[in-house]
Amino acid sequence: MTTASPAPADSGGASSPLSVLDATGAPTSHGVGRAGGKTILMGEHAVVYGRPALAVPVRSFEVVATAERTAGRGMLRSALYTGPLENAPARLLPTVTAVTATLEALGSPGAVDVRVRSDIPAERGVGSSAAVAAAVVAAVASAHGRALHPDERFALVQAAERAAHGSPSGLDARTVVADGPVWFDGGAATDVAVARGFWLVVADTGVKGRTREAVAGVRARRADDPAGTDALIETLGDLAIVARDALGAGDLHTVGEAMREAHAGLGALGVGDPALDHLVTAARAAGALGAKLTGGGRGGCVVTLASDAAQAERIAGALRVAGAAAAWTTEVEENQ
Ligand code: PMV
Repeated sequence: MTTASPAPADSGGASSPLSVLDATGAPTSHGVGRAGGKTILMGEHAVVYGRPALAVPVRSFEVVATAERTAGRGMLRSALYTGPLENAPARLLPTVTAVTATLEALGSPGAVDVRVRSDIPAERGVGSSAAVAAAVVAAVASAHGRALHPDERFALVQAAERAAHGSPSGLDARTVVADGPVWFDGGAATDVAVARGFWLVVADTGVKGRTREAVAGVRARRADDPAGTDALIETLGDLAIVARDALGAGDLHTVGEAMREAHAGLGALGVGDPALDHLVTAARAAGALGAKLTGGGRGGCVVTLASDAAQAERIAGALRVAGAAAAWTTEVEENQ
């Protein structure tokens, strides 16, 4: 996984024009950017209301974007669409925004021909839109001889994420370029201490996640029942803190219990789905230490906790038998 390297001294924030010369002073023309997937272990939806969340990069997924400077028209080439950038379908607006926002930050140096290859399933809550944007932003900057500071890259990915989700918390944008679990609080991302390594299994219900609708649904619920909704949000944030502290103490049992409670809380918030409940039940029956929906909900994926690789494989197998469209495992290493 590629992470952005620190910006050269002359670069400012994401809005200032960036140099178009490489280290030798020559214009560069070809750039590559990469990003991985993510799963939210705890705190989805609560994070939209300023509570903390804990997310984990999923390394079995990857997006690779390449960008070529061109004197011709700006182009986008992907599995979903190949053609002029300005004619891309509405659903690719986040990708188009990633290109145009980066070019604008570079001082509008001209058009680019961008190619995107991704094995991250879209609309499943595993960070596809943020990962594509992060890879594209890095590729376009790199084609102009620039490696972005993480904060610059974040701001550009967030511009794309706003086109995808309306008002994204920034959690995805931070996690898809991270090397380990991310604690996201008040817009800032920090590393999470992991005293004992573990595995996660992410399984897809096959039902498209509907993050935008789910976020709007929570907002509507809050307008109807502010006290009840805020209490649920508060609890979900507190459970994220419990899980983070338990990871730092190597107490996976407590992490699993917090996941169980969070799944119930998210259901009460109105973002559950019978297909999610079915996989959560199957994961628990297969011995998962914890299982919950992950991401926006109303479809999409579940995340389940396993203590080792063999248990993760058993759970993944059981979830496929239970009807999961796909199941992926990812290791989170001890870092203390
Ligand atoms: O569905 P995903 O994986 O994009 O996650 C959405 C997470 C929310 O907390 C519901 C929204 C957000 O912007 O953080």
